[in-house]
Amino acid sequence: MQTFLITGGAGFIGSNFIRYLFKKYEHCKIINLDKLTYAGNPDNLKGVDAHPGYRFVKGDICAEKIVEPLVQEADVVINFAAESHVDRSIGKPDDFIRTDVFGTFVLLEAARKFGIEKFIQISTDEVYGSTLGESFRETDPLMPSSPYSASKAGADRLAFSYFVTYDMPVLITRCSNNFGPYQYPEKLIPLFVTNALENNKLPIYGDGKNIRDWIYVEDHCRAIDVVLRKGSNGEVYNIGAGNEKNNLEITRFILDKLGKPDKLMTYVPDRLGHDRRYSLDWDKIKRLGWQPQHSFADAMTRTIDWYQNNRWWWEEIKSGEYLEYYKNHYTIEE
Ligand code: NAD
Ligand code: TYD
Repeated sequence: MQTFLITGGAGFIGSNFIRYLFKKYEHCKIINLDKLTYAGNPDNLKGVDAHPGYRFVKGDICAEKIVEPLVQEADVVINFAAESHVDRSIGKPDDFIRTDVFGTFVLLEAARKFGIEKFIQISTDEVYGSTLGESFRETDPLMPSSPYSASKAGADRLAFSYFVTYDMPVLITRCSNNFGPYQYPEKLIPLFVTNALENNKLPIYGDGKNIRDWIYVEDHCRAIDVVLRKGSNGEVYNIGAGNEKNNLEITRFILDKLGKPDKLMTYVPDRLGHDRRYSLDWDKIKRLGWQPQHSFADAMTRTIDWYQNNRWWWEEIKSGEYLEYYKNHYTIEE
């Protein structure tokens, strides 16, 4: 059975992926390497952390001494670790460049030194930038527009260069916006759901008409597994769901589902460099036999229910350091 090195496994998608792996491959081994930044949370792994095949290592993917022995032990490396929030990258890009670019380099170098069966780089649809026209295909040029997406584009192409130059078994996925359980409440959906549950304002940037293609995290996890099993080395795979919605539509869904009033909606100044629309063509992964299994409405309902039923998880987060960050983030007019 394979040994997986999952980096960033204490974050939102990484922790969902670890749950997915143990459910699907009960006897696999998983090493979770995570620095536990503000976004990493051991609570995300409650339950699975008792699995005999699970090992947690607290550490930085930029630290060669920590990374090397773990890569040496692993058959497969899946790199989720990143600074992931666009707004934070606008305020302070430093850690994005360090972790997303340099950290990926350290992992790739270790994989080159010790050999690996597969290296999956978790990239993002944001590397293409915004489009008001056709959906992006894997061969389209990258035009990232935030420090976050630019750092991810750097990592994405660096990973590709290790395939071309060193013939390493690298594959790259570019997924659209995820939602689901254990997402840090700074991203649109968990922020708005938890704010609404507390009768706090929902801060809508600009005119609220920016569009994202929303995918349920479990569908993303399954797609990564398909790419791992059936994808070809050196290839990029877009992962989308066909759920293009603007932010006002998302907000309305949440308010309606929770029976909360419109007066919670509040317009705040727009994000700098705010990408208008992300849109993917994901025919290539469909040809590997993957397609999303969850409809948008069902997945949103499950997600909202999860935050309603798991206040213990987010109430703990939404205190202390979190409040400090939001105090300086924007002013909401009462
Ligand atoms: P997240 O912010 O919830 O989790 C990131 C994790 O990485 C955290 O546990 C954090 O502690 C860890 N980490 C950060 N810096 C580290 C370092 N230097 N060393 C080790 N660990 C470190 O992010 P997420 O939403 O789960 O995203 C995971 C990956 O998927 C990222 O690479 C992101 O770019 C990509 N992605 C996310 C989305 C999305 O909608 N969330 C969509 C497409 C791609
Ligand atoms: P986000 O969840 O930060 O994901 P990304 O910017 O990486 O796509 O934001 C999704 C959309 O929601 C984006 O258009 C910005 C918008 N947004 C708000 O309007 N208000 C908010 O408080 C946040 C966090 C996001």
